[in-house]
Amino acid sequence: MKLIYTADGSISAYNDAYNDYYHDRKGALFESIYKHIYPAFHIINKPHIRILDLCFGLGYNSLLTLVFAKRINVQVEIYSVESDLLLLESLYNFPYPKIISNYLDISNIIKAINNDMVFMDYNVKLSVFRGDAIDFLHFLKDCIFDIVYQDAFSPSKNPLLWNKSHFLSLYEILCNQGVITTYSSAQHIRNIAKECGFGVFDMKFNSFKNGSLFTKNINIVDNLDSIEFSLC
Ligand SMILES: C[S@@+](CC[C@H](N)C(=O)[O-])C[C@H]1O[C@@H](n2cnc3c(N)ncnc32)[C@H](O)[C@@H]1O
Repeated sequence: MKLIYTADGSISAYNDAYNDYYHDRKGALFESIYKHIYPAFHIINKPHIRILDLCFGLGYNSLLTLVFAKRINVQVEIYSVESDLLLLESLYNFPYPKIISNYLDISNIIKAINNDMVFMDYNVKLSVFRGDAIDFLHFLKDCIFDIVYQDAFSPSKNPLLWNKSHFLSLYEILCNQGVITTYSSAQHIRNIAKECGFGVFDMKFNSFKNGSLFTKNINIVDNLDSIEFSLC
């Protein structure tokens, strides 16, 4: 893994085995906030939110969600999975941006997920399973997640986490009023999502490459000031 600076000042990495970046080089922090957390929490407005983070990677999505949940005082239960065990063990000293490291005790969280697979604080719970996401999905019950962050490597590098069988699994585990967020705007991925029964929205934030939002119920989506959604 090679660390890289992204344009918003946050640090991400490049993975040699997958030949891919963990985040958009325009900004790891901005990608996590504006393609996943902000749109998802805008739509899902509940006191207790259950989230599936696919996959943990450097932990931006899960950790920023913990920060966000503390600030808006909602209870979150995050389930994540990661197959790269060396990566999970290497995150103790990862140079996270201050918005994460100032608000969270990172070494305590990383220690808890490496040793016990779970970190708990008074209104948050983060469980990180070590292994393959596809196997993990088979253990999950139907209709339990309010939010899914679909954040595997790109479809060409990580195809098993972008195919029809994967999206059918996501359809089963997502609540009827739930949302899936992803950085991908690829037409073939949107077509697969539609074939599985999802409503598909284009998601536009600033100069970032568009992302997508998938829902079972298209009526739950309305626009934000900074993010524009349009039904595809
Ligand atoms: C784009 S990165 C995730 C970035 C992460 N969400 C973040 O916020 O930092 C993709 C991650 O998926 C993991 N991965 C790829 N295929 C997987 C699989 N089949 N099961 C579990 N993890 C997988 C990779 O090891 C990598 O860490």
